[in-house]
Amino acid sequence: MKESNAAQTDLSQMIVPDDDSTTQHPGRVVSINAGKQPVAPTVIAITSGKGGVGKTNISVNLAIALGKQGLRTLAVDADLGLANMDIIMGVAPTYTAAELVTGEVDVEDVLIEGPENVWLLPGASGQHDLANLDDRGRRAFFDAIDTVEDRFDAVVVDTGAGVGSNAMGFASAARDIVVVVTPEPTSVADAYGVIKVLSTRCGVRRIRVVVNMTNSNLEGQRVFQRLSNLASRFLDVFLEHIGNVPKDPVVSRCVVRGEPFSTIYPDSAASRAVDNVAQTLLSSNDPDDRQGAIRLFWRKLLRQGGA
Ligand SMILES: Nc1ncnc2c1ncn2[C@@H]1O[C@H](COP(=O)(O)OP(=O)(O)O)[C@@H](O)[C@H]1O
Ligand SMILES: [Mg+2]
Repeated sequence: MKESNAAQTDLSQMIVPDDDSTTQHPGRVVSINAGKQPVAPTVIAITSGKGGVGKTNISVNLAIALGKQGLRTLAVDADLGLANMDIIMGVAPTYTAAELVTGEVDVEDVLIEGPENVWLLPGASGQHDLANLDDRGRRAFFDAIDTVEDRFDAVVVDTGAGVGSNAMGFASAARDIVVVVTPEPTSVADAYGVIKVLSTRCGVRRIRVVVNMTNSNLEGQRVFQRLSNLASRFLDVFLEHIGNVPKDPVVSRCVVRGEPFSTIYPDSAASRAVDNVAQTLLSSNDPDDRQGAIRLFWRKLLRQGGA
């Protein structure tokens, strides 16, 4: 139905004047691909080998960093087992994906506006992993996103962690896959495990890496180098280091306050680092990279059965 016009999204229609208060989604919009071919929203899937590495904090604050650049950004909380983007973003959803997949409410009721051009599709914590939804539920989830995707320039998906989660489906279907890793040896080993599965079972050829909670840039470099050496020895995948996010006390302070560090402390080391990651993603000119047709993404996922 809507699929036919996906590729022809007119950028001029995506530009909303700053002062137009009648529109539901005001704000200046610049395209990732400004001045070139119009494209569908870019899908960035964030995953990790294990929990607790900062995946959700990076997803939320990356979405905000993209929003600050003028991109209308949809944050999707697909870590449905441990959903907490809403808490990190500082919004209080009335409804979540749980009511969406049962058909109790529609996507307009579920989407909630966060800071800086960012909207959230909240997950349903402790309810069900997306991979465990039945076909109808899964279809309801993706159809809902399908309905609203035209309003967005970028989609940031916080996927589940680990090889058994929905992350593999999301990540392998997205154009931009970002694996978050920390300098801990266990995190590096688990990140390698995820990269291996993405590469060998999902056919992914390029994976971006963010090293979080670094004590220095050199430490981040070394962590990336370790992963990259392993990958180039044993796997057919290209790893790209797109940044380090330093260990920064503002992160946990903001988690406790329930507000994102990018809005509360925009000049903190963590915020500047996430801004740089966003900039790196935006400035990528790789044509393969920026064709992130979201519908293709959902279709592919549905074909895979979401797993
Ligand atoms: N760059 C950082 N500096 C300091 N603490 C961090 C940083 N990133 C994450 N944390 C801490 O790690 C905890 C887990 O982060 P979270 O984003 O929830 O991880 P995940 O989604 O991977 O489970 C946060 O509550 C925060 O205290
Ligand atoms: Mg998380």
